[in-house]
Amino acid sequence: MPPKAYSLHFRWIFSLNSLINSPLSINAAYNYPIYRSLSTKEDRVFSGIQPTGTLHIGNYFGAVKKWVELQESSDSVLYSIVDLHSITLPQDPQVLKKNILEVTASLLSCGISPEKSILFQQSMVPQHTELSWVLGCMTTMARLGHLPQYKEKSASLKEIPLGLFIYPVLQSADILIYKANKVPVGEDQLQHLQLAQHLANLFNKRFGKFFPHPKALISDGSSARVKSLRNPTKKMSKSDVDPKSRIELADTDDQIVNKVKKALTDFTSEVTWDPEGRPGVANIIAIHSAMTGKDPERIVEEAVGLETAQYKLVAAEAICEGIRPIRTKINELLKEPQYLHQVLADGAEKASNIAAITWDGVRKLVGLSH
Ligand code: TYM
Repeated sequence: MPPKAYSLHFRWIFSLNSLINSPLSINAAYNYPIYRSLSTKEDRVFSGIQPTGTLHIGNYFGAVKKWVELQESSDSVLYSIVDLHSITLPQDPQVLKKNILEVTASLLSCGISPEKSILFQQSMVPQHTELSWVLGCMTTMARLGHLPQYKEKSASLKEIPLGLFIYPVLQSADILIYKANKVPVGEDQLQHLQLAQHLANLFNKRFGKFFPHPKALISDGSSARVKSLRNPTKKMSKSDVDPKSRIELADTDDQIVNKVKKALTDFTSEVTWDPEGRPGVANIIAIHSAMTGKDPERIVEEAVGLETAQYKLVAAEAICEGIRPIRTKINELLKEPQYLHQVLADGAEKASNIAAITWDGVRKLVGLSH
């Protein structure tokens, strides 16, 4: 039996199966009214993820799990593979192409449904970069220079690419080009969301009310910021050079067990929930809790009598059980690159229909067209 937290995802994985097997599936997706205009009371959800290969559990618990839930409760939902964001630092073109397909396969395997949401590749919708220019003309270098992610990423570089500096402006454009009002993200994206809110306000003040307020939706508790297994004071990240710092959704059972065994903890043998004093153990408990839906307190109760090393094996087994069906699906989908390309092409067409309307409105308001 899959853990409880996954029941929803299973539903989507199964519906995805029928989607793949049906020759009518892609056309059927066009009938879903996801790109009609919205009334002011309706929701539009937008979020993005960089194509850095298969997702890790930080992406999953911090963002994608919520994305899957929002497909059920929102009027219009768009998720973008933000390829333009991933070229702000030097990249290998062949790796990038492979990563775009891997992240598409991962999102579908987690339960993102092309029938319920628009899944697309950012660079296929040129209005993101067009709006980004307009917004870039409205912000200041001082404001961008203060953003913590820019400071962190540029700290070790001798020459800083301009794209890295203006990255958050493109992120604001990603959201505003769809007039999205709900943006489900992990905690690390909050400052970027604040910039999008600021730019929406500024635009509305200068040119008249046009953009809604884009609200960040952050997961509850420790899922909002899953920590590195090697350094539990840092977030789990794809850019960490040590692959043992993260669990990826395509990892094998052996890899998962090995990574959890090697996770940095401390020398206290019993299992306790103390995020401040014992961040390493708390991180494993938090991941275990997110994976199974059990409270940390209950996990600790069930671990009475176990040493931390023994508890790690229990947690690893629960993580393996949660990831196994997703990994199987990812591997199946990666054998169908044509299908993945088709999903992205269909998504781009639908996203462009919305983006074109907003861009037309922006051009008129700014004075670029009559
Ligand atoms: P990215 O690709 O780094 O991450 C995708 C999503 O995963 C979340 N996340 C985490 N959540 C909890 N714990 C972690 N350790 C963890 N690591 C990653 C991120 O918060 C994010 O929600 N700049 C964005 C992509 C982006 C975007 C956008 C997001 C571009 N345009 C517009 C929202 C709206 C980024 O690099 O995410």
